[in-house]
Amino acid sequence: MTGRPLLEVTDLVAGYDGSRVLQGISLSVSTGEAVALLGRNGAGKTTLVETIMGLVRATSGRVVVDGVDVTGRAPSVVARTGVAIVPQGRRVFAPLTVEETLRISERRVAGEWTIERIYELMPRLAERKTNLGSQLSGGEQQMLAIGRALLSSPRLMLLDEPSDGLAPAIVEQVGEILVGLAGTGMSTVIVEQDLRLAFAVADRVAVIRKGEVAHEATVADFRRDEAVAKSLLGVG
Ligand SMILES: Nc1ncnc2c1ncn2[C@@H]1O[C@H](COP(=O)(O)OP(=O)(O)OP(=O)(O)O)[C@@H](O)[C@H]1O
Ligand SMILES: [Mg+2]
Repeated sequence: MTGRPLLEVTDLVAGYDGSRVLQGISLSVSTGEAVALLGRNGAGKTTLVETIMGLVRATSGRVVVDGVDVTGRAPSVVARTGVAIVPQGRRVFAPLTVEETLRISERRVAGEWTIERIYELMPRLAERKTNLGSQLSGGEQQMLAIGRALLSSPRLMLLDEPSDGLAPAIVEQVGEILVGLAGTGMSTVIVEQDLRLAFAVADRVAVIRKGEVAHEATVADFRRDEAVAKSLLGVG
């Protein structure tokens, strides 16, 4: 672990057309660390990752990636500092094939990740390379969204509910991929409602409630204190 966090979010305030969603969020993620963002529907988890990525404009506060202040910068600028997002709902482009989607996401200057390496990590995508986005299962779409994000060779991946709408067996497969990626030293922020997946991937959890960080703990401590989890998330 390095002294300086890879991602440092400080007093972040953001929202939509006058409605303030993030009420001053502070969160830091070290190099190689995986942090799960938990919280009920509408808590502000997506708004937080989208504000980090520059997709939602910050009203105040700061987002610093590896010492570079990217607050209010365009998503392309944030991406160049090494951040990639796998958005909620995947947003796979229906009329393009798997291969085409990966080709347009490929960088001109080859980074650490190539399409070949994506196919090695997720052979299912190689089998489906000529299928259109609209012809993919939910799990395959999720893999494609992960592959597309990896092609920027990110140092920090923002994953917004990768298990959403997937059957348990598929969640398991996606989980194995994400655990493997977290093990490569890439930093991860994972928004999840599926606690099993969140705990498998993350080292630490931050619970978001009404646009604030209501609780932070290591996964081990959080799992030990069921009462806290129940009261914060309304689950067991
Ligand atoms: N594009 C938007 N325009 C206006 N309000 C929005 C927009 N997106 C989200 N909101 C509102 O912001 C609040 C936080 O939403 P957000 O999507 O960040 O929550 P979330 O924690 O990701 O929820 P979920 O678990 O359902 O994905 C909600 O009240 C939501 O209605
Ligand atoms: Mg969300």
